[in-house]
Amino acid sequence: MKAKITLIPGDGIGPEIVREAKRVLESIAKKYDHEFIFTDIDMGGCSIDKYGVPLTDEAIEIAKNSDAILLGAVGGNVGNSKWYNVAPNLRPEAGLLKIRKELGLFANLRPALLYKELAGACPLKTEISEAGFDMVIVRELTGGLYFGERYTKEVDGIKTAVDTLVYNENEIRRVAKVAFDIATKRRKKVISVDKANVLDSSRLWRSVVEEVAKDYPDVTLEHMLVDNAAMQLVMNPGQFDVMLTENMFGDILSDEASMITGSIGMLPSASLNESKLGLYEPSHGSAPDIAGKNIANPLATILSASMLLKYSLGLDKETSDIENAVEKVLKNNFRTADIYTQGMQKLSTSQMGDKVLEYLK
Ligand code: NAI
Ligand code: MG
Repeated sequence: MKAKITLIPGDGIGPEIVREAKRVLESIAKKYDHEFIFTDIDMGGCSIDKYGVPLTDEAIEIAKNSDAILLGAVGGNVGNSKWYNVAPNLRPEAGLLKIRKELGLFANLRPALLYKELAGACPLKTEISEAGFDMVIVRELTGGLYFGERYTKEVDGIKTAVDTLVYNENEIRRVAKVAFDIATKRRKKVISVDKANVLDSSRLWRSVVEEVAKDYPDVTLEHMLVDNAAMQLVMNPGQFDVMLTENMFGDILSDEASMITGSIGMLPSASLNESKLGLYEPSHGSAPDIAGKNIANPLATILSASMLLKYSLGLDKETSDIENAVEKVLKNNFRTADIYTQGMQKLSTSQMGDKVLEYLK
């Protein structure tokens, strides 16, 4: 097949890890006789340096006219980078918010998978880490508290701040469908997380999710309150297959889930809209502390590229090829510095890319 892929290397380690993911995509193209046409755009601090804004309209157009987008990361040192003390709409992160908004990316997918070989990095009890877990969190990304009306005012001379959590049934339905579709290809279980004992938005959430579930008779649905979900993630993470939740709960729970894997350098993500165009990026940031040293772990970005093949291009076989190659790398004891333990073979960013390519052949 022929596909246009936009690459956004971004800041910090972004260019180093995107370089490796691009090599992997090129190798897949060669093996399966696809034609991938890559176009690079600037976003984040590197775009501010060149154009004075974190994302130009021309760059957005290129992204919109492609089939999928692969991003490294944006942002500099929090607190002391040259891009930090400026207006919020001129910060590197504004580029990311802008592209998410322009593309209407309402579903954020974050797998949290504990690789057997990396179980030692899991901070949970040995019984739990040995049992393993493999879940995907589907987080609503364009509604809820982060997008509701907010203001600060004085009420009887007392400073008062208001944030609003709004969802309509359509917003809930479309993200619920994404979660159920994914569950049909996995262990066929959705756990929907809400706070329906308190919040009206959560009651609507629950009822719409139940409606959607009727179209998926093979998939079991369970509801879980968010406070319980936070506990269950550390007590029995193996019970989760697909977790579906709203924006803020998903923000917090997906960070919790990534931490229990113990290896942030391994976790990919995808953000989808109703078309096939999606934005794929590692779950971690631009890691300015290790940028330019060729030591960053490129696997989260390589696995993001494999999600791109599956969700935007429908290439399931190619996706499993990459996942298998990554597993083989771990099985054969190759590690970048962030996941290195004694007795393993330590690889640089580009050497890790080489290894994945070797196992892909
Ligand atoms: P971070 O994820 O960049 O780094 C946290 C720690 O993990 C650092 O010690 C870093 O060296 C390490 N790390 C992260 N990715 C790694 C990899 N692939 N290999 C090896 N080690 C890795 O988070 P932090 O430090 O809070 O943020 C740094 C910058 O990244 C900030 O400007 C922040 O706004 C931005 N950021 C951007 C995101 C994005 O582009 N989607 C997401 C999160 C943060
Ligand atoms: Mg977060």
